[in-house]
Amino acid sequence: MMRTRPLKVALLGCGVVGSEVTRIMTTHADDLAARIGAPVELAGIAVRRPDKVREGVPAELITTDATALVKRGDIDVVIEVIGGIEPARTLITTAFEHGASVVSANKALVAADGAALHAAAEAKGADLYYEAAVAGAIPLVRPLRESLAGDKVNRVLGIVNGTTNFILDKMDSTGAGYSEALDEATALGYAEADPTADVEGFDAAAKAAILAGIAFHTRVTIDDVHREGLTEVTAADIASAKRMGCTVKLLAICERAADGASVTARVHPAMIPLTHPLASVREAYNAVFIEADAAGQLMFYGPGAGGSPTASAVLGDLVAVCRNKLSGTTGPGESAYTRLPVSPMGAVITRYHISLDVADKPGVLAQVATIFAEHGVSIDTVRQQGKDGEASLVIVTHRAADAALSSTVVALRELDTVRGVASIMRVEGE
Ligand code: NDP
Ligand code: HSE
Repeated sequence: MMRTRPLKVALLGCGVVGSEVTRIMTTHADDLAARIGAPVELAGIAVRRPDKVREGVPAELITTDATALVKRGDIDVVIEVIGGIEPARTLITTAFEHGASVVSANKALVAADGAALHAAAEAKGADLYYEAAVAGAIPLVRPLRESLAGDKVNRVLGIVNGTTNFILDKMDSTGAGYSEALDEATALGYAEADPTADVEGFDAAAKAAILAGIAFHTRVTIDDVHREGLTEVTAADIASAKRMGCTVKLLAICERAADGASVTARVHPAMIPLTHPLASVREAYNAVFIEADAAGQLMFYGPGAGGSPTASAVLGDLVAVCRNKLSGTTGPGESAYTRLPVSPMGAVITRYHISLDVADKPGVLAQVATIFAEHGVSIDTVRQQGKDGEASLVIVTHRAADAALSSTVVALRELDTVRGVASIMRVEGE
């Protein structure tokens, strides 16, 4: 039975994502009403610049007073697509206080303050949904929160930032420069308002925190995630990866420790074999592997950024939240009962690709190998290329603790014969 009184929706933000949310809500209004069981009505759209031309956006709905919009009292659902911490956080908590449920795409905020937001929602019997916050259109939050709620997830590994994948793909496949590729990603609406969030890995770290928290039923904030961006990745690293039959990707990796007593979450560039499915993830696509006890390995793949894909995830949440409203219920809230601690990066065990500039003379290789042995890091392969008394040494290790590798590098830098450590990159996916 279709309810005739519409559910009222306030949209906060009408940029790359918000404008697509508006378009889909307008053009698919009848289908959305049929799926929800009641029509949904856009009651207001808050923006910063009211005079900006916005094609297809009803001008009479535009306001600059987002606070007044969420305080109206007749709003059923607030969609927050402004981004950043403030004023988004205050607007969302105000929305809960005034009886609305919230759909957000704001990974920065959820990763910084998800626990408090969930508590605020629960206190008011409201929903907080944020499928769009992780990997654009790809369903990940709901599968982890609901479909895999009966399983035990041990690992989440993937590419969760479209902008950096786009940049690495362009650098690798077309030889484009870093700045050129970043400009193109920004023009296509993939990058954050401040693209530093993408290239320095903050965006992926926020997504890793959200995924780890839901996967392991514990609290993980962005501050718990080890983060390295791609600004240090050089053309030489990409070429070296190619020589090894690998490619470079910015990965997010969340793991349960072997003894089950802790978890780790990290974001960094890594070499992965060209035969690995993640190696073929191109442009702004994302892909995430989830490994669970009973399910085994699952792979989620799709457009990870952009207005339309992200709006798809927002609209999916809107339908779910509206259905909950009509049936007088709420969806699952925060599940953090395991209270597993997050271990530091030093506890992570993986393989490494280290590129050294060394003196090309007898005994240097032995000196270098001794340093690795003294720190318990076993060498898998060594490749040396000499020129004019100097040499470039590329060493790939077996699996070792990150702390052991770090102390190996400190000791290597102290050798007179080591002119410099040109790059260190983790090797994953083997
Ligand atoms: P945009 O910068 O394109 O849009 C932001 C919108 O918020 C604009 O309409 C802006 O108004 C409005 N705004 C900014 N400050 C205020 C304020 N104080 N009060 C009212 N409105 C304000 O961002 P995106 O659409 O790209 O991103 C929005 C959110 O979605 C972010 O959290 C982002 O991380 C997330 N997201 C984005 C994806 C993408 O591919 N772009 C993918 C997944 C998530 P005005 O138009 O007047 O400037
Ligand atoms: N800037 C983000 C990205 C948007 O490039 O992945 C999607 O979350």
